[in-house]
Amino acid sequence: MKYLSTIIISCIILLISLGFQNIKPVAKGDPALDARVDSLLSLMTLEEKVGQMNQYNGFWEVTGPAPKDGDAARKYEHLRKGLVGSMLNVTGSENVRAVQRIAVEETRLGIPLVIGYDVIHGFKTLSPIPLAEAASWDLAAIRKSAEVAAKESSAAGVNWTFAPMVDISRDARWGRVMEGAGEDTYLGSKIAYERVKGFQGEDLSQPHTILATAKHFAGYGFSESGRDYNTVDVGTSTLYNDIFPPFQAALEADVKTFMNSFNILNGIPATGNSFLQRDILKGKWAFEGLMVSDWGSIREMIPHGFARDGKHAAELAVNAGSDMDMESALYVEHLVSLVKEGKVKESDIDDAVKRILKLKFELGLFEDPYKYCNSDREKEITGSKEIRDAVLDMAQKSIVLLKNEGGLLPLKKSGANIALIGQLAADKDSPLGSWRALVEANSAVSVLEGLISSGQNKIQYERGPLVFDGTQNFAFEVKVNEEDRTGFQEAIQAAKQAEVVVMVLGENGFQSGEGRSRTDLGLPGLQQELLEEVYKVNPNIVLVLMNGRPLVIDWAAEHIPSIVEAWHLGSESGNAIAKVLYGDYNPSGKLPMTFPRNVGQIPIYYNHKNTGRPDYPGQDLVFWSHYMDSPNTPLYPFGYGLSYTSFEYSDLKLSASQMNKGGNMELSVVLKNTGAVKGKETVQLYVHDLVASTSRPIKELKGFQQIELAPGESKEVKFIIDEKSLGFYTPEGNWIVESGEFKLFLGGDSASEMNVDLVID
Ligand code: BGC
Repeated sequence: MKYLSTIIISCIILLISLGFQNIKPVAKGDPALDARVDSLLSLMTLEEKVGQMNQYNGFWEVTGPAPKDGDAARKYEHLRKGLVGSMLNVTGSENVRAVQRIAVEETRLGIPLVIGYDVIHGFKTLSPIPLAEAASWDLAAIRKSAEVAAKESSAAGVNWTFAPMVDISRDARWGRVMEGAGEDTYLGSKIAYERVKGFQGEDLSQPHTILATAKHFAGYGFSESGRDYNTVDVGTSTLYNDIFPPFQAALEADVKTFMNSFNILNGIPATGNSFLQRDILKGKWAFEGLMVSDWGSIREMIPHGFARDGKHAAELAVNAGSDMDMESALYVEHLVSLVKEGKVKESDIDDAVKRILKLKFELGLFEDPYKYCNSDREKEITGSKEIRDAVLDMAQKSIVLLKNEGGLLPLKKSGANIALIGQLAADKDSPLGSWRALVEANSAVSVLEGLISSGQNKIQYERGPLVFDGTQNFAFEVKVNEEDRTGFQEAIQAAKQAEVVVMVLGENGFQSGEGRSRTDLGLPGLQQELLEEVYKVNPNIVLVLMNGRPLVIDWAAEHIPSIVEAWHLGSESGNAIAKVLYGDYNPSGKLPMTFPRNVGQIPIYYNHKNTGRPDYPGQDLVFWSHYMDSPNTPLYPFGYGLSYTSFEYSDLKLSASQMNKGGNMELSVVLKNTGAVKGKETVQLYVHDLVASTSRPIKELKGFQQIELAPGESKEVKFIIDEKSLGFYTPEGNWIVESGEFKLFLGGDSASEMNVDLVID
């Protein structure tokens, strides 16, 4: 009898898998897709359905609190029983093949796994960190960067990235600002769209495209005091106008998955939040894809004080619309009994499983579960010329020139005597930044290497004091030396003898990223002291900053003639920096986040409200919105960045000064390159709605264009003004355009005061 049932089941499996072999990947909107999903679903037991909703970390890498001992044995057992729908952090195509083989060949239904990885800014070849990429404002380059990341990771077995992170944040203390597009919702939305398109391409069944994830839904970037995982309390006006739009843009780009977040939002954990997941995302926005939890975030509803225990947490999460459980193992443990007890509806399980299966069909995994596991392809694509070129292009475009007094930059390419100072100048690891996937440690081109290979100068390198001590990696804190001044004197001597000093200072690659919030945003360790000492003997300093967030550099901004913001630029870092320092690339980046004068100003952002007592020039009484010990203004505003040439704006014109709500009109300005070299300017359009039913920001970015001009050349730059530029979301979430007066600003950064008036009827 036992024999007979085994034979029958084997025959069913054979038939099903033969059937799957013949199923061609189907496009979105193909009516056959739902039928295939339904027919597979009808074959599944409740246990198998729940299994699809379970995602485990692989056995190689960890990107969250480490699993317990004995975890691997349990995971293998679940894999074999068909109780795993997806794995993350499986490294390399051979390992993917090994786990996929278990899912496909050893489980009753042979449903393939979808394999996730945090491909945040590349996989084995790294682009700049996302915040740096955002500084390029170059949407085509950003899309290309995501596209090559998809190519390289998919060749290693990955078919799902947990990116882009589209969380808006105004708090540089939060370490994860490195992973997003900065403080602005308009720029963030444009970039979210491009990143999704870059990862997913036009056809998901192609082997070089992967599923993207819009994360973290929602509000994660607004954690109190910039401390990671902390409480988030924001009003609905901020939610609809500032936090949601980049997620909506990702959705417009057809993003296939969302990830919820660790934080509570106005008291309710995002993971158990049905307003966010059911009402907004799957309801109002009609999202048809998959919502995955963040790492262990279902279980974290217990310490949040929202769930009594693991079973309760599973119930709350699934009922609120979380489809897949990443690493809590609570769905696989409790959902079957929760359904049997009537606490969870089987129809909700079915809905979640359909979303998961649909993606597996769209990826073409049923047609060929090993399509991403070709080690020859992996070898051929990894680090290919196309990828190296794209990341170098992205890196040079991400650099922001903050100051260049006296034309110290660009440096001559030969015959100069340069002192290169700072541990980071020779560091081949820090430029890789945080979230570095499978890149080899110490594999970035350093500034030292870049300067040597692209010029013929005499370069004397001195490390100065050790700043970062010991080995760092994703899981550990970075140790900073505050005491040992060995190396100071050598650096000072080298500076004395040099014509020009290049100092590379900033953060270690692991001082930003997840779990890396900081309260002091000055240059870590003894770097500030070193900078001041070197300045005393040679003020001809070019300061190159390497960092994952805005830093407080008020002293440098006042004293140092040239400052270059070079972020953590990835594998080609040193080459990109050398190109900018030598003038082979004229810097064109603009800050995607405000640089504060001091930490006390944070959160500081350009699109704030006016207050009832704004900072009027000439104000002499104390009763206005200000600090006694610091100006309100930032050190460098959002959108700011210089070039080796200069630009002049003139002739700002509106095609009419009055417009109906549904209409549109043209705003134009003449931009001229008034300097001596070719350069690219990012012309930015900002809008201020003077009087509205809710107080509106003093300025909001509503458009930008990148214009390249030869010396002396000028061009008329035009923007269309329509209701998208003028409307906003009410606190109830309705989009409206109101009559009244508006000011339209154009310029090269958010502080530009060049404006015209517009009246809307
Ligand atoms: C992060 C996510 C990430 C996940 C998997 C979590 O700690 O918050 O952004 O995708 O880990 O690595």
